[in-house]
Amino acid sequence: MKAATFLPLLVLSGVAYAQNSTNTTSVAGLVGALSAAGLTQLIQVASTLNGTSEGQQLLSNITNGAPYLVFAPNNDAWQNAPSNVTGNITLLAGYFSYHIVPGNFTQASTIYPNVTLGETLYRDPSLTTVHLEGGKPEVVAWAVRGDNKTHVLNQRNDSIVVNQTTFGNLTIFVVDHFLTIPETLEATIPTDNSSLTGFETLLRSTQVEYLNSTTNQTSNVSFFDALNTRYSGYTLFVPNTSAIDAANSILQSLASNTTAVNNVLFNHWINGSTIYSPLLTGSSNYTSAAGEPLSFHINSTGQYVTSGNVTALIIQPDVLLPNGVVHIIDTVLVNTDSDSSAASSAISSAASVATQTTASQTVPIGFSQTESLGGPSCTASSGNGGSGSGGSSGAMSLSAAGKGFVIAVAGVLVGGWMTVS
Ligand SMILES: *[C@@H]1O[C@H](CO)[C@@H](O)[C@H](O)[C@H]1NC(C)=O
Ligand SMILES: *[C@@H]1O[C@H](CO)[C@@H](O)[C@H](O)[C@H]1NC(C)=O
Ligand SMILES: *[C@@H]1O[C@H](CO)[C@@H](O)[C@H](O)[C@H]1NC(C)=O
Ligand SMILES: *[C@@H]1O[C@H](CO)[C@@H](O)[C@H](O)[C@H]1NC(C)=O
Ligand SMILES: *[C@@H]1O[C@H](CO)[C@@H](O)[C@H](O)[C@H]1NC(C)=O
Ligand SMILES: *[C@@H]1O[C@H](CO)[C@@H](O)[C@H](O)[C@H]1NC(C)=O
Ligand SMILES: *[C@@H]1O[C@H](CO)[C@@H](O)[C@H](O)[C@H]1NC(C)=O
Ligand SMILES: *[C@@H]1O[C@H](CO)[C@@H](O)[C@H](O)[C@H]1NC(C)=O
Ligand SMILES: *[C@@H]1O[C@H](CO)[C@@H](O)[C@H](O)[C@H]1NC(C)=O
Ligand SMILES: *[C@@H]1O[C@H](CO)[C@@H](O)[C@H](O)[C@H]1NC(C)=O
Ligand SMILES: *[C@@H]1O[C@H](CO)[C@@H](O)[C@H](O)[C@H]1NC(C)=O
Ligand SMILES: *[C@@H]1O[C@H](CO)[C@@H](O)[C@H](O)[C@H]1NC(C)=O
Repeated sequence: MKAATFLPLLVLSGVAYAQNSTNTTSVAGLVGALSAAGLTQLIQVASTLNGTSEGQQLLSNITNGAPYLVFAPNNDAWQNAPSNVTGNITLLAGYFSYHIVPGNFTQASTIYPNVTLGETLYRDPSLTTVHLEGGKPEVVAWAVRGDNKTHVLNQRNDSIVVNQTTFGNLTIFVVDHFLTIPETLEATIPTDNSSLTGFETLLRSTQVEYLNSTTNQTSNVSFFDALNTRYSGYTLFVPNTSAIDAANSILQSLASNTTAVNNVLFNHWINGSTIYSPLLTGSSNYTSAAGEPLSFHINSTGQYVTSGNVTALIIQPDVLLPNGVVHIIDTVLVNTDSDSSAASSAISSAASVATQTTASQTVPIGFSQTESLGGPSCTASSGNGGSGSGGSSGAMSLSAAGKGFVIAVAGVLVGGWMTVS
């Protein structure tokens, strides 16, 4: 077995760094707890990190008595971790901060549609080129799947919580892989997967005006490039290729009408706001970049988005990107309507929200909304009860009837798919 490459120098050099910010009593205890859980490589990583000011801050943060959820890679995970990350202490500290979620998530009930998302400590802007709006921290997503195990989602390797322990107010989820931070849209659509190529083609063939705020110049770029490397904060509903195929004749008939095609695309896009699936519920309404309302509902067959008179099933929620989120849907939202004043007011309100400095969340994203969906306080008033027998929603007849709710098991469109009945 090959040992993972870590920078050994600082481990051995009797670390001469300031210790005043670290509660050593607590750090020693933590090391003991990690050792009891067999996490010897992680202890070595912690002492490596202890040699940098970022790493010391991280260690002092997780031992400051506040609750945290820590995804702790086990020894096998470190063995298989990418050496270009583990061998670079700056990258290692950045990636490791993606494993730490402030808050106590143990009370997070299994909520419909089962994805739990938490804000991590990862927000180092020097490591990526584009970010979420307002410099919001990147999130990590996890879910209990049909095997009754907790899987970390959006990982190239299916990453499973194989053990769980606590130390003080820390909850330690031992994972069998080192977690990778969200990758760009382009990297997320892998070349060996054809399910999204239809939409990608559309995005690449559409031009948008992009204002570079540094130069104050407007230029035309492809919509794909704008989403990939320029926009900070968005939500994109991406129809899979069978949805594109099914809409082929209507898309063909619109092809010569650029405005109509752009409106259809822009009705799949919320510009300026990254909205994860627990916030896409019956009570939420958002405005698309074309200025049209997007509405949502959840019932026992799944989670749905509606634009105009078209409703689509979200077949894979929460594909995380460094600068936004993608939800994969099974139907093209063919809505050629637009409302430019609604669109611009939505953008300016998103921009003003993004400038407000929001305190880090220490509860699952969408907690209050989702709580009422699956929890005991669920009442008939919402009409969207997750555990109900179909709910009262009118759109149920569409597309998904009789089908299992298809969810991805870990892996951005790379991992397998699993049908949950
Ligand atoms: C430790 O305390 C000293 C004096 O209060 C301060 O100058 C220094 O920045 C502190 N170091 C850290 C890492 O907090
Ligand atoms: C350090 O942590 C221990 C255990 O959590 C706690 O009892 C102690 O008060 C802490 N010390 C300081 C200086 O915060
Ligand atoms: C899980 O963690 C507990 C407590 O830290 C430890 O005793 C046990 O050996 C671990 N189990 C495995 C399979 O690593
Ligand atoms: C970090 O360094 C300090 C001082 O050198 C030491 O007391 C502490 O145990 C180290 N922590 C870890 C996790 O290695
Ligand atoms: C530690 O926590 C403070 C305050 O919560 C935060 O500002 C800082 O970025 C954190 N440090 C790291 C390395 O995550
Ligand atoms: C855990 O958190 C509680 C409430 O925030 C606090 O009272 C307690 O001291 C913390 N425990 C430790 C070991 O830090
Ligand atoms: C590390 O190397 C892999 C494969 O060679 C590459 O895909 C990845 O982008 C690299 N990561 C970083 C942070 O450089
Ligand atoms: C570590 O990674 C950072 C960010 O990618 C890079 O700027 C730096 O040059 C790397 N350091 C080494 C020693 O490779
Ligand atoms: C997802 O949540 C719903 C509602 O709580 C539950 O009925 C279903 O069994 C869950 N599915 C999985 C795979 O955990
Ligand atoms: C998962 O847990 C449920 C309820 O405890 C049980 O009925 C089911 O058989 C378990 N499934 C697996 C694959 O272990
Ligand atoms: C999390 O909170 C629950 C109750 O709210 C408590 O029972 C549990 O001990 C807490 N976990 C940790 C690690 O503090
Ligand atoms: C804006 O223009 C500057 C100067 O040409 C360039 O360096 C930068 O990459 C551009 N920003 C974007 C997001 O395209």
